[in-house]
Amino acid sequence: MLRNGSTVDVQEAPAAEPPPAEPLPAGARVDLAKERADSQVDSVLEALDAELVGLAPVKTRIREIAALLLVDRVRARFGIDSGRPNLHMCFTGSPGTGKTSVAVRLAELLHRLGYIRRGHLVSVTRDDLVGQYVGHTAPKTKEVLKRAMGGVLFIDEAYYLYRAENERDYGQEAIEILLQVMENQRDDLVVVLAGYKDRMDSFFASNPGMSSRIAHHIDFPDYEPGELEAIGRLMMDREGYTLALETEPVFREYLERRRARPRFANARSVRNAIERARLRHANRLLAHPGEVDREALTTLHPDDFLTSRVFTEAT
Ligand SMILES: Nc1ncnc2c1ncn2[C@@H]1O[C@H](COP(=O)(O)OP(=O)(O)OP(=O)(O)O)[C@@H](O)[C@H]1O
Ligand SMILES: [Mg+2]
Repeated sequence: MLRNGSTVDVQEAPAAEPPPAEPLPAGARVDLAKERADSQVDSVLEALDAELVGLAPVKTRIREIAALLLVDRVRARFGIDSGRPNLHMCFTGSPGTGKTSVAVRLAELLHRLGYIRRGHLVSVTRDDLVGQYVGHTAPKTKEVLKRAMGGVLFIDEAYYLYRAENERDYGQEAIEILLQVMENQRDDLVVVLAGYKDRMDSFFASNPGMSSRIAHHIDFPDYEPGELEAIGRLMMDREGYTLALETEPVFREYLERRRARPRFANARSVRNAIERARLRHANRLLAHPGEVDREALTTLHPDDFLTSRVFTEAT
């Protein structure tokens, strides 16, 4: 799991080649398929598709951005300067809808397309940017910016930077420093603001400067029951677990009940459910020590879910 204040390093892929100094003649021809293959963006887009269930509109937007940057690179080879596109973004959605996961992939993609030098992701919240005392905020924010340069700065629950009820709140200072850096398109940094849609909307209403610097607003919808199930299966598959046939309806029922309970956090709740099922599975096996086979070690039974509070407690 990605903790706030943490940095995710991506595999160091070679950064995109800088365009040659001498522009191609107007009549030259460039093979786009080869450009695309050389940039290795497809492997990132494929990983995005394979690792994340659903999110079709999000994936489409990411593909569009990849296309833009790829075409921009080819244009640059002809000496056509279109300027760096603004790629600061806002990811809105409930907890566990995949915002951080997509941001990690985005960072990797932007790096492969030569938009950012390093392609890492630095994830922060208000506390990482804003100090408690006068004079503490600017150095904190600048330090975070320094760490994030060449990558993506992901600010979770960005609206906490702004406190309408307190105009002398230090958060304002952090916002102003961020605005300057976001304006300066020469810095190779992409800022992603994340959080709930309604709170983000009111944050933008009070901070029009921030709003105008965000080029892409991407909404992450809550997952449908079928998607939650597919996410669960994907996670179990990756971890070497399967559901016994009779566990399948139990797992679906589990998800349905969990969805209706407080603090449901989409895919994050699915992940937690599977972790607890693993725990019960291990305890179940050890309750009757003896020989086990591969099937026993990998198969989750109804009881591994049925003893959850989701089933035993009234809501
Ligand atoms: N569409 C998806 N398919 C598969 N796994 C997913 C999907 N979306 C999220 N996950 C998984 O769910 C967990 C939470 O996702 P992530 O941290 O990206 O969500 P988030 O929107 O950033 O949530 P939060 O606001 O709680 O930080 C991660 O383990 C992630 O891999
Ligand atoms: Mg997150």
